[in-house]
Order: sequence, then structure tokens, then C-alpha cells
Amino acid sequence: MNHPAVVHPVDPEFAAKSRVTREAYERMYAESVNQPDAFWGKVAQRLDWFKAPTKVKDVSYQLDDFHIRWYEDGELNASVNCLDRHLAQRGDKTALIFEQDDPSKPAEHITYRDLHARVCKLANALRSLGVRKGDRITIYLPMIPEAIVSMLACARVGAIHSVVFGGFAPNSIADRVADCTSKLIITADEGLRGGKKVPLKANVDAALKMPGTNTVETVLVVRHTGSAVDMQMPRDRWYDAVVEGQSEECAPERMNAEDPLFILYTSGSTGKPKGVLHTTAGYLVYASYTHEMVFDLRDDDIYWCTADVGWVTGHSYIVYGPLSNGSTAVVFEGVPNYPSVSRFWEVIDKHKVSIFYTAPTAIRALMRDGDEPVKKTSRASLRLLGTVGEPINPEAWRWYYEVVGDSRCPVVDTWWQTETGGILITPLAGAIDLKPGSATKPFFGVQPALVDANGQLLEGEAEGNLVLLDSWPGQMRTVYGDHQRFIDTYFRTYPGMYFTGDGCRRDADGYYWITGRVDDVINVSGHRIGTAEVESALVSHPKVAEAAVVGFPHDIKGQGIYAYVTLIAGEAATEALHKELIAHVRKEIGPIATPDHLQWAPGLPKTRSGKIMRRILRKIAENAPDQLGDTSTLADPSVVESLVNERRVP
Ligand code: WTA
Repeated sequence: MNHPAVVHPVDPEFAAKSRVTREAYERMYAESVNQPDAFWGKVAQRLDWFKAPTKVKDVSYQLDDFHIRWYEDGELNASVNCLDRHLAQRGDKTALIFEQDDPSKPAEHITYRDLHARVCKLANALRSLGVRKGDRITIYLPMIPEAIVSMLACARVGAIHSVVFGGFAPNSIADRVADCTSKLIITADEGLRGGKKVPLKANVDAALKMPGTNTVETVLVVRHTGSAVDMQMPRDRWYDAVVEGQSEECAPERMNAEDPLFILYTSGSTGKPKGVLHTTAGYLVYASYTHEMVFDLRDDDIYWCTADVGWVTGHSYIVYGPLSNGSTAVVFEGVPNYPSVSRFWEVIDKHKVSIFYTAPTAIRALMRDGDEPVKKTSRASLRLLGTVGEPINPEAWRWYYEVVGDSRCPVVDTWWQTETGGILITPLAGAIDLKPGSATKPFFGVQPALVDANGQLLEGEAEGNLVLLDSWPGQMRTVYGDHQRFIDTYFRTYPGMYFTGDGCRRDADGYYWITGRVDDVINVSGHRIGTAEVESALVSHPKVAEAAVVGFPHDIKGQGIYAYVTLIAGEAATEALHKELIAHVRKEIGPIATPDHLQWAPGLPKTRSGKIMRRILRKIAENAPDQLGDTSTLADPSVVESLVNERRVP
């Protein structure tokens, strides 16, 4: 327990105006876990319902009677909650500020009224194309307003959206389209990031040539960069043409609380990515409530979350949280270092951003360029900072707090997952003292616990695997099309508990310190990548016999990808093949899965029963050959020595 005991006490000035004070936190937390029905019943009143729920929570994690239901007899529509109900009071308020990749292009301010009209037009167009409640629609778009319009238009007609991050390659698109048998894809001619074009439409075309994708009847194409793209009639339709002439009113579908809202694919420790399914009411209640509480939201805030809508952070904290709360959110198409490393801070000044939410990897990358690119901007509008996606090291936390926030703005380090729908462990800045590097305390209704390898609950100061003892409304409900996989992945390891896949330490003050994944998932720049996915991409190359992939500590990315590759007998380990294999992974999965290091492995360390000993490979990748531990169970201990000697040092 060697962390420095730095504590940033709650700022009394912040607390005086905050939504939740120290004593309110204690009281509300106690109510939320002791009387969840009363607590979450009240919270649900923040939404507009066609039919208010009479039931709140009905959950059992017991394997013989497993179910998770929240607000089960309620009826509502998510898009109505994000749009229609704001029109009377806030119709002319800016909902979205669209900041383009190129800072010389004008920013677009979209009011709630405009956004409502755009969503209704697209929703009508979708209906005219035959889209019905329950259909799956894939969205593969850059960070442009149409991405958000598309998500809400799906919600309006009851279609289930599956957003696929624009950095994924055709194969990954095809897998996701095939898994949920999408009927329609919404994409753009091209994306634009840091001045570079991304061939989105061409990627969709390539994906739709792959097996299992023939359920797609229509591809809507947003004209974004204006470059020429292949249009295959009648499948491909221009987005602007199909929405033109549609009515600006569209009757919303009445959705049951437990009807699906979206699927979002995420990597697990085994096999192909899982379609995490979230339902309508519980998810929306939770995204909305956490967004207001964690960011201490006020009506005049300008809120900016730098995530992409291709990830869950974008779903909950760019789209559903902020819009259900009627707030003003910045939507940023670009990247932190284009055209310069001051871009984030310039955008903050330009739009007077008051709440800023980003990833530790971005902070670490920008920190490398020193204080000057930050200091030359004002940032006087900021009042709260947040981080998400991976553990933040105390140095990066301090830089964020001192340099970016001028030691004025609390930093909320928010821990959660695609599966959890919203933030679960986080400070509430008016209530909880901050400790750099700790996500601090559970949010209302969240009951974290630590267990040892045998599932024994650990008390007090301890380190173990992080589990959650009970449900919260934003919890995922199933893996799309594979309910058994849902149960096996999350509820079988420690019966009666949800297993997060994360390791965690609890200090003497009851603060939680997430230590990272304990399964075969790597967190690269806050993006989850399964080692199995990278391995299967590598072995799909004809010259590769076997591959093993592990994570290693990386200064900027948090974790990097380290691949060990055994070639087919007779193949030569050349520099050209080395490059080719790295390019092959990019092509198969997408640039986010690019291995940082690839080492030739004449053999892999295996047990006598043939199981690869990743523990050893991780230690070699970390350059800690003195910590290999017991290697006596290896079938051939000599392979370890040769791997250590041949380690590919950056
Ligand atoms: C990690 C992103 C430490 C964790 C919202 C989790 C974090 C995985 C934090 C989920 C944090 C996320 N501190 N680790 N504040 N936030 N993680 O599904 O390992 O993309 O299990 O959801 O990111 O990643 P996902």
C-alpha cells in the first residue's frame, strides 16, 4: 500500500453550490442501498413516461432464477426524453455545438428545436425505408451531428442501434453487422480526423462483400467531405436525399422499459466481441442521473466530453445523458493534437466550456509537450474536470489538476464499463475528498466489493478482484443473441455477484483504486482489445503458425500490445514480413489494434498440457525477466531463455 497519502479535500466554495454535499452523500447512499425501490423510484421521475412504472427493481443474480428488470411496466421513448420534452422551455437552447476537425471551419450551433426536427425527418425516412421497432441498424459515422441524429432517430422508431467506431476495419464491421443481422447501415462518404481522410463508405462496401452481411438492404450515405464514392443502386442512398421533404414531426414508438435501446460491441477475454445490450428505461435513468450528479450539472454549463460516439462514453455522456438533461454539449470531430497540441484548450476557450471530460491517455500525451501550449490559453470557463477509460497515474492527475485546471477545478476520475451503462465509482466533487489516482467511492446504489481468487469477500484495506453485489438500473441485460454467454462471463466466476474483470485495491479510508484488467483484455489508450482477437488476426495470415498477445505498460497509451509470433516451418523471419504482419492486423481489426511490438518466437512457453503461459510472456514483454516466477511446469523451459534474449526492445 505504497501510494502517497495525498488528499485534496472538498473545496468549500464548490461544495456550497454543489448538488450533493458530504452529509447528503452519506444519507442518499444509505437510502439507495437500503431502500432501492424508493430511491430509484424517485429518480425515475426525472424522465417523461407514456406510462409511469409501478414497479422499480426486480433482480436476481442467482443462476437458477437469473433476471434483471428495472421499471418493467413503464413505457417511454428515449428520443422524446432527449428532445420533445425540452421544446417548451428550452427549444431555442443550444443542444449541440459542432466543432469541426478544421478549426477554420465555422462551428455549428444546433438548438433543441433543430435537433428535434432533424431527428424526426430521419426517423420518418427510416420508417419509409421499412425500418420497424426491434430492427437493428448499424451506424458507422464520424463525430458529426448526423451520428447523434441517427442514434436518436433509431430510438424514436424503436430500432436498436449498433454504433461501430469509425476506426474499425471492414472485417470488424462485417462481424458486427452479421452478429446482429442489421437491416440498414448509416455511414458517410469519408471521415476526417486531424486532416486525414478515413474511407468510411469504401470500408462499408468491403464489409458488405463479406459473408453474413446480406441482411443489409439499405446503406444511407451522409455527404461529409464531398469526395466521390461508389454508389451501388438501389442499395445505397444519399442521406440528404432521403430526409428531404420528410415531415419535422414523427410519432415516437411506445417502448416498454425493458425493450432494447442499443447494442454496443466490446472486447472480452475470449472469442469475438460481445454485443452488449442495453434497454430503454434503466439505461436512460442511469445515464441521465449520473450525468447530472457526477458533473454537478447546471443549466448554463457548456459540457464537453471528448470521446467518440463509437464507444460507450459517447453513448452515455455525449448523447443520452446530456440531451436527456437538456444541457449544451460540444461534439468534436477532431483530435487533440491537430492542428496543434493546444487544440483542446483552444476549443474550451472558444466555446466557454465549463465541464471537460477526457481520457488519461490524451492527458499523458499532451503533458509530454509541456505546460506552454496549455498556459497560453485562458481556460477561465472551466469549473470541473473528469477522466474515464483507464487508471490515471497520479502524475497525470496532478498535471491535469494544476496545469489544465489551474488548481481550481476538481477532477472526477470515473470508473465504469460498457457493461455498466454509466459511471459506478467516482467522486462527487462537493461531497468526496479527492485522491489522485483513485476513483474514490461508489455512486448511489452501487455496491462494490473485493474478492480473492476463491471468491471470499475481503474486508477493510485489501486488494482483490472487483465485483458488484447488486444491480443498478444501467446494467447491461444480455449479450445480444447469447444470453448464456452473458451469464457465464459475468455471473459464474463468483456466484451471486457481477464480476467486473478488473483488479482493485481498497485503502483504509474505503477508497477504491482500480489496478486494471485481470483477464485477457488489454486497455490501449482507453480502448478495450481482447488478446484473442489480435491473436486470431495474426494466425489468419498464411505464414503464421501460432501467436500469443499480451499487454505491457506504455507511457502514453497506458498499455501497449506485444505480440509473439511463431511462423510456419520454413518461413523466414524477415523485416518485410514483420511489417506485413503488423499491417495485416490493422487491416483485419483496425488501427486501434496495431501491435506496438512483434517478436519472433521460435517456440512459446507452454505447460505440459499445451496451455500458453501468458504470465511469463507478460513478464518478458515488461522487461522483467527476473520476475518470471516458477517455470518448472513448462514443457520446454529453454524457450523462455531464447525469448528473453531475443526481446524486441523499443
Ligand atoms: C477501465 C469505458 C481505471 C477498466 C467507460 C474497465 C478504468 C474498462 C476507468 C472498461 C477508471 C474505465 N479507472 N480503469 N476511471 N474507467 N476503466 O468498456 O479496466 O471501454 O473494466 O468502458 O476500462 O472499458 P470500456
